[in-house]
Amino acid sequence: MSLDVDQLLARARAVREHAYAPHSGFRVGAALLADDGSVHVGCNVENASYGLTLCAEIGAVSAAVASGQTGLRALAISVEGDQPVAPCGACRQVLGEFAPDLRVISEAGGRRQEWSLAELLPAPFREVPGKK
Ligand code: THU
Repeated sequence: MSLDVDQLLARARAVREHAYAPHSGFRVGAALLADDGSVHVGCNVENASYGLTLCAEIGAVSAAVASGQTGLRALAISVEGDQPVAPCGACRQVLGEFAPDLRVISEAGGRRQEWSLAELLPAPFREVPGKK
């Protein structure tokens, strides 16, 4: 199955419209392509208690897993402005649970940037040492 990056970015751009970001004003949309070809989206959901804010990527991972999809192929991120952003550190760890070498494509305005998750998170925490 080939990856249509433009389509995945379009989904990220569309869900960004639903972002709830009254505190930072920074709206983020994320779209995850799963192994079966399905796409799962998320947007950031902020909270007055700032630390409770949910990143867009977390919403997308949650939607994928809730749909029974844990094999993930690619992530598209869309933000406003003209500077693409990479997922935050916490999101990298969460994404890495399912796809250590996920393809990550980020877009802002007309600019795109791409990484592999392994490049963004070269030394993830995998599991409790010695766990049986
Ligand atoms: N944010 C995301 O949704 N994903 C990221 O990868 C980086 C940051 C959100 C969290 C918060 O709502 C806003 O962007 C500013 O940090």
